[in-house]
Amino acid sequence: MVKAIYPGTFDPITNGHIDIIERGLRLFDSIVVAIGENPAKRPLFTIEERMEMVRECVRHEPRVEVRAFNGLLVDFAKECGATVILRGLRAVSDFDYELQRALMNRKLSREIETVFLMTGFRWIYISSTIVKEAARFGGNLCDLVPPLVEERLKKCFGF
Ligand code: COA
Repeated sequence: MVKAIYPGTFDPITNGHIDIIERGLRLFDSIVVAIGENPAKRPLFTIEERMEMVRECVRHEPRVEVRAFNGLLVDFAKECGATVILRGLRAVSDFDYELQRALMNRKLSREIETVFLMTGFRWIYISSTIVKEAARFGGNLCDLVPPLVEERLKKCFGF
């Protein structure tokens, strides 16, 4: 049984993330979506709100667990019993950043491998940040985020 951990800030979860989770489930027996804090980011949603949104989006999938974590990702992966870190790659611009993190995680723990999936073509250009920016000015997010996330963003920005 191979368990993967899919870490991120998920502020908020987008259809691109869901695509990675769904395709990851074809490769792994179960996935832990691990919501962490990136000190370089100032999230719009609290960790509880982000967890609630992710849980809602994956509630039909019993093989997905949603957890929050602090500290080192590799330590949390071990605590969960995961042997794989799952990450999505979008454009070439993701590569340097992801390579650096994958190598650092490998340095920190040789027991855990990072596996990358190419983000679905329909979502190759989106990020949580760009989605929030469009939402802030009332942009249409249909097809980019699940309806419940769109509602939360609209509420947040007063639309
Ligand atoms: N679809 C849509 N967007 C995608 C995507 C996809 N398939 N794949 C990546 N992205 C976007 C995300 O939306 C996010 O956008 P944003 O920058 O606008 O928020 C961005 O790509 C990547 O960020 P994310 O996946 O959220 O990860 P992160 O780089 O913020 O890292 C942690 C968050 C929690 C995973 C990371 O900080 C961590 O591992 N922390 C633990 C500390 C640690 O162990 N450090 C040492 C190891 S290097």
